[in-house]
Amino acid sequence: MCANNASNDNLNIMIHPELEDAINSQINQELAASHNYLAMSNHFDSENLNGFAQWMLLQHDEERQHALKLVGYLQDRGGRVKLSQIPVPRSEFNAPIEAFQVSLAQEQENTASINRLYELALKLNDHATKSHLQWFLDEQVEEEKSVEDVIALLERIGDDVTGLLFLNDKLGKRPSDSGAE
Ligand code: FEO
Repeated sequence: MCANNASNDNLNIMIHPELEDAINSQINQELAASHNYLAMSNHFDSENLNGFAQWMLLQHDEERQHALKLVGYLQDRGGRVKLSQIPVPRSEFNAPIEAFQVSLAQEQENTASINRLYELALKLNDHATKSHLQWFLDEQVEEEKSVEDVIALLERIGDDVTGLLFLNDKLGKRPSDSGAE
């Protein structure tokens, strides 16, 4: 009986193929987000807005950490990581607020994607994956809020160059806080 239980436990550790595919898709989405943020950082650097560039560079690194966190989890669960193509990122924006609006849309899509992943884990009774995804759900709340805060400030700044440079300075002081390790 003990031997049977051990065997069942081993089977339960293996992740369901449907969930494996969905996590692989999420890994790709996080890497695509990382790529997009790097392109935004490059854009701001070319505009001499180094604080904005630094903020986006940290965001790029956070998304990469998110992808690696899912890679590690999938490997721990006996799944196979399948990387796929990442779309060419948008690299030109008419104004800083436009880049942040694109960023917000991306974060909202990512939140929806994590929610779908969580619902799949729920349907498949995969409690470990649900637990793992809880961190991502909380992180998405933070990510959406931080982008919304910058958009709100940019809306108030409007065409005021002094305000823009003040925000540039403020964003450049953003601490690294991925917390994904
Ligand atoms: Fe990894 Fe911004 O979501």
